[in-house]
Amino acid sequence: MAPRIPAANLLSDREGRAIRHVYLRACESAQEARTKIAGCIGFYNSIRPHASLKVLTPDQVYFNRPPGARIGSFERTSSMHRRHFLRTAAMATAASMCVSRGGAASQADAFIEIMADEGLGEISPLLYGQFTEHIGGVIYDGVWVGEHSKIRNYHGLRAELVDHLKKIHVPIVRWPGGCFADSYNWRDGVGPLSKRPRRTNFWEVEPDAQRLHEQGPQIFESNEFGTDEFVRFCQSIGAEPYLAANVRSLPALEFDNWVEYCNSPAGSTSLADLRAEGGSPDPYKVRWWGVGNESWGCGGNFLPEDYASEFRRYSTWIPSFGVDLQLVGSGPNDNDLDWTHRFFEEIFSSSHPYDNRHFKGWSVHHYAAHGEQALRFEDSNWYQVLKECDYVEQIIEDQWSAMGQYDKEHRVRLVVDEYGPWYVEGTELDPTHIFGQQVTVRDALATALTLDAFNRHPEKVCMGTNAQLVNNINALFLCHEDKFLATPNYYVFGMYAGHQGGQALRANFSAPNIHFNYEGKSSTMWGLNGSASRKGNVITVTAVNTDVHSPKLTRLKLRGMKIQQVTGTALYAADMHAHNTFENPTAVQPTPLHADLSGGEVNVTVPAGSLVKLELTVG
Ligand code: AHR
Repeated sequence: MAPRIPAANLLSDREGRAIRHVYLRACESAQEARTKIAGCIGFYNSIRPHASLKVLTPDQVYFNRPPGARIGSFERTSSMHRRHFLRTAAMATAASMCVSRGGAASQADAFIEIMADEGLGEISPLLYGQFTEHIGGVIYDGVWVGEHSKIRNYHGLRAELVDHLKKIHVPIVRWPGGCFADSYNWRDGVGPLSKRPRRTNFWEVEPDAQRLHEQGPQIFESNEFGTDEFVRFCQSIGAEPYLAANVRSLPALEFDNWVEYCNSPAGSTSLADLRAEGGSPDPYKVRWWGVGNESWGCGGNFLPEDYASEFRRYSTWIPSFGVDLQLVGSGPNDNDLDWTHRFFEEIFSSSHPYDNRHFKGWSVHHYAAHGEQALRFEDSNWYQVLKECDYVEQIIEDQWSAMGQYDKEHRVRLVVDEYGPWYVEGTELDPTHIFGQQVTVRDALATALTLDAFNRHPEKVCMGTNAQLVNNINALFLCHEDKFLATPNYYVFGMYAGHQGGQALRANFSAPNIHFNYEGKSSTMWGLNGSASRKGNVITVTAVNTDVHSPKLTRLKLRGMKIQQVTGTALYAADMHAHNTFENPTAVQPTPLHADLSGGEVNVTVPAGSLVKLELTVG
């Protein structure tokens, strides 16, 4: 049956063309395209209010159907297709949407619509993890200052860092690398301190390290911070440890032994005794283990088939000691689909299929790293970095679909365990902080939009760890000796913590796109996007306004439930380069945001270049 179009102005030619263009390109068959286009038209008829119809939907005007009525075929479209459509169609409609305020009508720039009864799945708390590597100032000078330091510490751990982390509920921390992991012998970091060997750090080869005049811990590893210290760090902030095993330069038996050291019951093995001598008779019960890191690069420079073969060897029959091990394979560099196809084919489709229920995660690393500067940038660089970070959603979609061709039941989910904007050197606090960089409000938006992308795909992404926690790429903290500050990223994780464990809700964010020029080419970036989740009677909505100059008067509607109360928080700054320094450590920090609840909907001005959180109490 042909889609019903009740009035000519309901679907302009332009929107129709956009729909056909997007779906005909995105669909496998004409039938699929027809179904989806019918769904889109249904959406316009029954869900999307129209300015020209006094902010009613066509169905309300012509057929009196209740707002939010389900349109079967549209609901079944994939989130990617729907997202593409909404963004395209939103360009034409968002600017003319109406906001009613106290009875008067005023123009809105953006629109958020949340379906309270359309859950997408539980948002794994593990999406909000952090990554720490033995590189530059992350561990030494960052997390670890040593028990005898004059800097306030908890058994050697930097106290200010621990105190801050407790407030934002970090669920998991990855360690010891990164590239460092595939050069690390875990045995070097256990047992009495006086007997731990000093070794050359993996990053000694990095030009940043080689230009240093001091031969500090960034070049020579003291092993003062090892497995026991790391697990204590995790315990002190209430996080789970996630360890990366060495596949490049240690035999598989050493992986088994490390698991045994961490997880064998008190008194059961010699390694359990060694752990007890270090102060921990009780097993650590470490669940998450990475099987190598970047095995296509620093972790061995393998071909995917060869890594698959190593993966089989390292991950088969690891002692479990009653712990439900969660093994993470070393996935692609960015969106390298060839790596994923070839690995998964070898593992799942070969004549000798692999069947290991502990294989749970496929790691993805995505950096925005194209020679940009941390503090010196123009509007176009602002948008370009955000756009590159936003590409993570495409990676999630593409990788998921590639994996599903072999792992038909999707037993393996994505673990985005390194991400962030990575700039050229020059803003590190100290020359020893390899890859250290300042963090501006732009980076806070980049982190926020990444977390929103994770939230929108709860069935696909089971873990995320930001690279890296302190004194490194996309840090939450910068510190050196006795000086310490929280960057804007720290506040992002605080603002987004409410999503952890929530039920992700389908939500549409509509606003005109941003058009910009980057390196002589015209480009676009969405204007407003975000995510929503529900826990009990609270719905958390987070959103990013990428427009660096214009605030967005935004109307939010909740379908299926009534909003009783709303509170808002925003993170932004008048200057897009704003960042926290020791002189001004709170230049960028969250502030309350006024949101108006009237007529059952929320009207809020989302500041230019900001991220916002709205907490809706629902009844
Ligand atoms: O985070 C810095 C490095 O980036 C990591 O060690 C490596 O895995 C990635 O290439």
